[in-house]
Amino acid sequence: MAGELERVKEEIRRRSDLVELVGHRVSLKKAGKTWKGLCPFHDDKNPSFIVSPEYGHYRCWSCGAKGDVFNWVMETQRVDFIEALRILARETGVELPQFNQGEKSDSEEMELAMAEAQSFFREQLRSEKSALTYIEERGLDQFVIDHWEIGYAPHQGEALAVRLKKKGFSLATCQKLFLVEEDQRGGYYDRFRSRLMFPIRDERGRLVAFGGRIIGPGNPKYINSSDTPLYSKSRVLYGMDKAKESISKEDQAVLVEGYMDVIACHRAGVTQAVASLGTALADDHVRLLKRWCSKVVVLYDSDDAGKKAADRAAIMITEAGLGAKISLLAQGEDPDTLLKSKGAGSVKVAVDQGISPMDFRMALLNEKLSADDDAYWTEVVQVLATAETPLELQKYLIPISAQYPGISDRQAAAKALERMVQAERKRIKSGANRRIEREVDEPLVKSEPFNKKLFGPEKVLFMSIFEPGLRQKAWQFAKFPPLMKSELATEVAKALESLGDAPEGEGWLHELSDGIPKELLLELAVGEREPIEVDALEDAVERLGKEKERRDMRQLSQEKSISEQDDSALRELNARLKKLKGG
Ligand code: UTP
Ligand code: MN
Repeated sequence: MAGELERVKEEIRRRSDLVELVGHRVSLKKAGKTWKGLCPFHDDKNPSFIVSPEYGHYRCWSCGAKGDVFNWVMETQRVDFIEALRILARETGVELPQFNQGEKSDSEEMELAMAEAQSFFREQLRSEKSALTYIEERGLDQFVIDHWEIGYAPHQGEALAVRLKKKGFSLATCQKLFLVEEDQRGGYYDRFRSRLMFPIRDERGRLVAFGGRIIGPGNPKYINSSDTPLYSKSRVLYGMDKAKESISKEDQAVLVEGYMDVIACHRAGVTQAVASLGTALADDHVRLLKRWCSKVVVLYDSDDAGKKAADRAAIMITEAGLGAKISLLAQGEDPDTLLKSKGAGSVKVAVDQGISPMDFRMALLNEKLSADDDAYWTEVVQVLATAETPLELQKYLIPISAQYPGISDRQAAAKALERMVQAERKRIKSGANRRIEREVDEPLVKSEPFNKKLFGPEKVLFMSIFEPGLRQKAWQFAKFPPLMKSELATEVAKALESLGDAPEGEGWLHELSDGIPKELLLELAVGEREPIEVDALEDAVERLGKEKERRDMRQLSQEKSISEQDDSALRELNARLKKLKGG
């Protein structure tokens, strides 16, 4: 047997295309004999993930992840070796030997019972007028019915129970599967009656549960299987089996509220749509999504319950380290009604119009309160404290502080508000609010701060432009690219140069176009910092000047001639230095 297994493994390995397989998840570029991309196993900034088709191996130079095609499937689909073997055997058309023949196992019987129920529901739909009429009313055509395998559970109380029994299934087992329920006399009746049936498949396409919608109005509108040996509702997302490829390709999932919404989105071409069913979004749902993408758009109803659920979902998604966006539909609208009333394009637009969770919270706050209300200022601080980046915080800080009551100086108001926001972040961090504790445990800037890449004196120089008393002095040096030692600082200096003379007020930062220099300056503006004295600034500039001289000398000795341009730059710098020292 062992020899047989080795043979099968070899055959699968030979027939698999690792580059193609990895390519579903990672965008790969050819680099000589290998392929390169961002590592999916850690937060990779520079491509450190290498796939070698020659050796059938992948490896990350940064986090150490490595393996062959089997490891890849085990890691990315979170399955054990046997399951990975099955998946790859199916994909490559390699026939597996029978590993365990003999008695039908429990789980095999359950799978067969579910399959039997499913084909029963499908048959029933064909002959039930009321269900077919309802389906037509809801605008579902034959393709959709077949694609989503929709069926019908008849109204007779025990039609499925009779069928399952006739086929030799143990009804006690079927009860565990939420298909039938025991009555007081020891008989069994059907769980789903007079309902349109939606089979629920897990990510790998295995039938694990059902959802049933009542035909027309009535209560409860939907009945969903409870947890069974095959199904855990907090782990399965409806539509995941069909959506996963496109979620991976788009690096984005769309989260909607229910069955019909998932179907509507897919019909509209938004094939990354999935839903949690009859249950709020759970951490396991988010983990499942995280294995396939790094961004999630939440597309919920805009009633109060929907807004609350969207906010909660966004917190969970962000906590898991995924990017969250929220898109609220018009009151009373869901993707299904939207598709019907305004067409496929409007569903796509709704997805594209997702906003950041903080934008969303701010919009809700502005609906509820105005800057004249005292309560507004308590809540706005709480909202601002959830900013994910300095850029996001700054976007609101300046305009909002303009309305701050009692302080006419805009800068002072912005500072005051910023201090309150920082205090709120600390308060949350200290455990006052458990739910988002993890979120704020991380620094304001999630990735390595840019300013760590600055040469010390460069940092002092750039920080000085945020000191009202030093700005004029610091500016002329800060916007002088040749003075800078690091590449990053040179970029920042170029950006400042583009602004011209030292600006008044704080609004100037927003005139810079988005990019690393702006992010870095925001980081310095928002981050905690010690006040800088004029001595420190002068010292920093002098050190930068010395460094530049040294660079120029080195170049001179290498090239034996200094270029016109550098020479004039040095002269200009010396003139400026003189001026600084002179006061
Ligand atoms: P909705 O009430 O928004 O229904 O519930 P819907 O999806 O728009 O359904 P249609 O269009 O009227 O047919 C959203 C989701 O919440 C779950 C279902 O998963 C539903 O799709 N739900 C709702 C239940 O589990 N039970 C219920 O009684 C109602
Ligand atoms: Mn609906």
